[in-house]
Amino acid sequence: MTNQENKHMNPSIAAIMPTAPRPNCIFVSGRGSYLEDLHGNTYLDFIQGWAVNTLGHNHPALVETIQRQAQTLINPSPAFYNEPMLQLAERLTANSAFDHVFFANSGAEANEGAIKLARKWGARYKNGAHKIITFENGFHGRTLATMSASGKAGWDGLFEPKVAGFIKVPYNDSAAVAQAIDDQTVALMLEPIQGEAGVLPAAVEFIRSLRRLADDNNLLLIFDEIQTGIGRSGELFCYQHFGIEPDIMTLGKGLGGGVPLAALLSKQEFSCFEFGDQGGTYNGNPLAAAAGFAVINEVLAEGFLHRVRELGDYLIRHLQVLSNRYALGTVRGKGLLLALETRDLDATQIVTMALERHLLLNAPRPNCLRFMPALNVAPEDIDRMIEILDGILTELRVMSHEA
Ligand SMILES: Cc1ncc(COP(=O)(O)O)c(C=O)c1O
Repeated sequence: MTNQENKHMNPSIAAIMPTAPRPNCIFVSGRGSYLEDLHGNTYLDFIQGWAVNTLGHNHPALVETIQRQAQTLINPSPAFYNEPMLQLAERLTANSAFDHVFFANSGAEANEGAIKLARKWGARYKNGAHKIITFENGFHGRTLATMSASGKAGWDGLFEPKVAGFIKVPYNDSAAVAQAIDDQTVALMLEPIQGEAGVLPAAVEFIRSLRRLADDNNLLLIFDEIQTGIGRSGELFCYQHFGIEPDIMTLGKGLGGGVPLAALLSKQEFSCFEFGDQGGTYNGNPLAAAAGFAVINEVLAEGFLHRVRELGDYLIRHLQVLSNRYALGTVRGKGLLLALETRDLDATQIVTMALERHLLLNAPRPNCLRFMPALNVAPEDIDRMIEILDGILTELRVMSHEA
């Protein structure tokens, strides 16, 4: 970038509250698996808005829907029904174990709703039980209650006092869950794959034992599927891999395909909000709901999820080859939410080197790369990503031998 361009850009960058270290590129357009910056450089995107752009950037079906809806009705207020809200709620309930949907604008907001719903149910039906067992390294969002529910390292001392009532236990440890349950416990809440923790999948037996513990102790089982839902894991919802049904589920990210949209879903018997308990100005607005309806229709189209599983297997095979070639660690995850352990190599450095080569990757942990491409990513783009990563790993291994 020239000094002149920097000067031109800097005043606006300075106006953004610095809450994240952002690279110096400014994106102006996107198509499929590619983004373009202000200078016309294209980038291959294996982040996709943080597992958000289910159909890639600016998918024609999504763009056309948003354009049409924007010309028709943007927001009549959450106090009224609108058509897209009803259509999307019907699609979600018809294809899941749930009966009721509350639409929200972000994953954290949907999780706040799930926490409130569990507490309401505890107040009404379980003598005021309110404690929720959550998991170490879990991530549920950045509002005060969802940060309190999260087990993210380093968050312990932040923004004290936290919201009380979250008991954290180790993931995949059902004995620890059983031990933590008391008569004030109302729910168990978890991600079926811990995404931000580095794509750590729950064991099938662990999830089944949580279902049993919930049944035996009259607790609600809440799945946070904000990262795993809407096809990301190769099934429409990740809970479908485990042969059980949660009582409450939250969705976000991929639901809107890039448009801010999230949802709280509940089985009817636990759906106990009374008028005024839950709401929000933008909740269920037709613009976002129409986007969600377009996305879910694409994901439910014949062969789509099968293809996600095939593409996931293809990516796993290639990552496995790299792992063997460069003495790296495990490849894990499901569908197109995958991770590669980089062992002694610094994953953050790999991300920086990838950006220099116009590839967008993510390192949720210092020694872990996460891959979350569009669910319709082309195999050639997987090949291209692998080729770039291969080059970076060669360079790093040469450097580590020279050191
Ligand atoms: C599992 C999970 N829950 C909740 C959230 C929070 O969603 P949002 O950033 O939309 O508030 C995230 C975001 O990364 C997530 O991965």
